[in-house]
Parts: sequence; C-alpha cells; structure tokens
Amino acid sequence: MKKSSLRSFLTILERTPSELRGIMDLAKEIEREPGRFRDPLDWKTVGLLFEKSSTRTRLSFEAGIRQLGGGSLFLGGDIQLARGETIEDTARVMTAYLDMLVIRTFGHDRIEAFAAASGIPVINGLTDEHHPCQALSDYYYMEKSFGGLKGLRIAYVGDGNNMARSLAEGAAVLGAHLTLSSPADYSLPDGEVTRLNRLAQESGGSVRTLSDPLEASRGAHVLYTDVWTSMGQEAESAIREKAFRGYSINRELLSVADPEAIVLHCLPAYRGKEITAEVIDGPRSRVFEQAAARLPLQKAIMMFCIGRER
Ligand code: CP
Ligand code: NVA
Repeated sequence: MKKSSLRSFLTILERTPSELRGIMDLAKEIEREPGRFRDPLDWKTVGLLFEKSSTRTRLSFEAGIRQLGGGSLFLGGDIQLARGETIEDTARVMTAYLDMLVIRTFGHDRIEAFAAASGIPVINGLTDEHHPCQALSDYYYMEKSFGGLKGLRIAYVGDGNNMARSLAEGAAVLGAHLTLSSPADYSLPDGEVTRLNRLAQESGGSVRTLSDPLEASRGAHVLYTDVWTSMGQEAESAIREKAFRGYSINRELLSVADPEAIVLHCLPAYRGKEITAEVIDGPRSRVFEQAAARLPLQKAIMMFCIGRER
C-alpha cells in the first residue's frame, strides 16, 4: 500500500497544474542554492530500471540522487524481468528494497502495470507514449528564458511522438501555445488535441496541429524538434526518413520565427535530419542549456514524489 505522501509521475496530466507549478518553483530554488538540498534522499535508495538507452535522463537522475544524499542502483537488461519474470512480481520485490523507481520502457502500459503493483513512487523516464520529465524540464527552461509561459508560442516540427504528446499536455495545463507540424499519419490524434484544448481553456493555452512547418514556425518564440525515428522504431527508419523529409529545423524556418526565437531539441540530435548542423550549432540554439536544466528539475520531481518538497 502506497503511503499518501508518496506520489508517482507517469504523465504530465497525472499531476495538477499547481503540483507542476510547485515542482518548477522548487527546481528554481534548488538551482539557485543546491547546497541547501543535501539530504532529502538521506538513507533512500532509488532504482533506475532502463529498458532503452539513455544519457541525459540516466545521468541527471543518478547525479541528482547522489546530490540529494541518496543512493542509486542502475538496473539495465540483466535482471530477471528480461527473462520473463512478470512486471507485477518484479514491482512487488523492488518495493521491499527500494524507496523510489525511475523507469524507461516501451509501452506505457508497462509502467502503469509497474506503478499499480508497487508501493513506491514510480517516475516515467520515457515510454513510447510519454516523456514527462523532459517536457516539464523544457517548460522550466522556457519559463526561465522568457520570464513566463503565458502567451509563449512554441512550434514543434516533426513526429507526433512521446515528446510531442508530453509537450502538448504541458502547453494545455501551463498556458503556452503549441503548434505541432507533422507529416500526415505522424500527427497527434485529433481527438487527443481536442481534449487538450478543452483542458487548456482554464490555463489560456492551446494546442493545434498543421502540416506546414513554415506556417507553424511563423512568429514562434521557440522552435522545437525531436528525432524522426524514436527508440524501438528502428525497423521503420527508411520509411520515416522519406515521410519526414522537409520536417527539419533549418535556416528558413528560423528566418520566419520571432527574431529572438530560441531552438530546442531534447537530444540526442541527428544533424542533417530533424535539424541542420548550422542551426543546432548556431547562435539561437539552447540545446545544452536545455539539457542542463534537467538536473534541478529531476531533483525537484524526486523530492515531490517522496513527499519532501516542503
Ligand atoms: N532527452 C533524453 O531523454 O535523453 P536521453 O535519451 O539521453 O536520456
Ligand atoms: N522520441 C525520442 C526521445 C528520446 C529522448 C525517443 O523516444 O527515442
């Protein structure tokens, strides 16, 4: 049985706007004075169960856990789960040893099954459908860069994937305006966008989809992209390369955006595909500052999940 102060973080919409606000505010404090937060995870052990590759998510969590006074255990492909032990059995056993778990996996149903069977907070370090830690960190970074999110215009160019979905959920509840431009067949489903816009009525944000990346970028304060082929989709990469041609952040898209626009990418990036080398390595790119923001934000998420946010 989960104690009431323990909370999971599986999707952006799982948490209320005021909880998301609280996590971002805490991240700000942590970033300003990291030395004040040396013991929230004292005597706590956090597992990182990763069924896909990772650089940023794994490292920002592992470094964050250490800096908050806890211990981390990286669990890759060599646990019995990989040999067919059930998720439920694994979750029950891990609950006895661990205080919190970060999971990166394939289908979102896997992490939901894990969270349902475990008695510890579970944090989504990416599933095929959602990447909430990255999206909240990106909104934290955008807020820091622009002084607020209300009225901010973000153009996302590329796949209507896990990243697009978590950014769209964030725009809806945090009050930003997100335009997603994707090729036909790779867009977020219309029904989902309609539901998000209903939610957005409260925050003043919006989500819209269209196919032309140039139109989406016009006047945008932020240009954002992600890979054409996500982890687990490698068999589709030839088809995707054809479908996504033209869905690339390049000089032309940047020229129609706001003159002060910044360029973001969750990384890893593939130069010459979803973004040109000239743009990602150019003066409007903030991709490494964006990656750095994950450390304070991840620490704040863990403190929130374990009930140590106050
Ligand atoms: N952006 C992101 O989640 O990067 P990793 O896959 O390296 O963790
Ligand atoms: N959409 C990408 C994000 C990587 C951080 C993937 O799922 O592989």
